[in-house]
Amino acid sequence: MKLTPRKVQIREVGPRDGLQNEATFLATEHKIAWINQLSQTGLSYIEATSFVHPAWIPALADADQVMSGIDRVPGVAYAALVPNIRGLQRALAANVDEVAIFLSASESHSQKNINKSIEETLEVLEETATAALAAGKTVRGYVSTVFGCPYEGEVKLDAVLHVTEKLFEMGVREVSLGDTIGIAHPRQVAEVLDEMLKRYPAERLALHFHDTRGLAMANTLLALEMGISTFDSALGGLGGCPYAPGASGNLATDDLLFMLDRLGMETGIDQEKLRASARFLEEKWGRKLMSHQMQIC
Ligand code: HMG
Ligand code: MG
Repeated sequence: MKLTPRKVQIREVGPRDGLQNEATFLATEHKIAWINQLSQTGLSYIEATSFVHPAWIPALADADQVMSGIDRVPGVAYAALVPNIRGLQRALAANVDEVAIFLSASESHSQKNINKSIEETLEVLEETATAALAAGKTVRGYVSTVFGCPYEGEVKLDAVLHVTEKLFEMGVREVSLGDTIGIAHPRQVAEVLDEMLKRYPAERLALHFHDTRGLAMANTLLALEMGISTFDSALGGLGGCPYAPGASGNLATDDLLFMLDRLGMETGIDQEKLRASARFLEEKWGRKLMSHQMQIC
């Protein structure tokens, strides 16, 4: 077991993945205030919004105002999802720190999510990554449907390896492997990571678990044991993808933090401050967050 205490990086994706699927529009001023609170918790990375087409993700139609409106805290990287050059132009105008490009490992999800085949998307992303790097930004890559597709079911590992390699060739700093519909189980995570770790160092890989079937934490533990130290999560267990039926909340940052703390892993995040920022969101939004931690009084 490689569970010796070490530094673990949490990529907070709540303001993006957490909000993108929500029917109730969280007011721009509340988004900004919430991100400002998250910035004070010790998190070093916040995916603040998404510069996709506003008609495709209405919940984040205010990406430009949000990214321009937040207070920048030194030591915190503010990232955003960017699908193409138009999105990059908007992200650069709003002074994004890191550009997160994304694609699916399965054709049908690719078509539904971004209206393009995988090969067409690779061309768009290559152009986008090149321009982002030329503008002095770092680039992160996401692969979706790594562990299963809502339209096709099983996804071949070769397809995942193919797009992962393409992302690294484009110069991405890190690839996040997405369990978009929360269908992965620990043995499958081990199989995928076995192959990935033959090709890439653990430091360049992240895991992005959704908790649809309650296995996100078990999968995280397995990945930690295999040497992965970077995880995407969303405060309160928010999250989902409107173009992946059945996708529900991300692994909850507050639940993840509880486990990591107990394992003696170092995150630099203050649990009480994180909880306060979750309460703030609950109050502004008028709804309860679903994480285990937020059910404890
Ligand atoms: P399209 O309709 O094919 O776009 O959508 P297009 O390139 O044909 O352009 C059509 C019009 O849209 C043009 O305007 C463009 O300028 C404009 P016109 O010339 O007609 O006036 N346009 C834009 N406007 C603003 N911002 C832009 C933009 N791009 C084009 N960025 C597109 C293609 C990719 C834009 C669309 O399909 C889209 O935005 N999809 C995003 C869907 C999405 O956000 N899904 C969820 C995120 S992925 C996810 O959640 C998974 C993840 O969490 C990991 C995991 O869980 O596995 C990351
Ligand atoms: Mg996701």
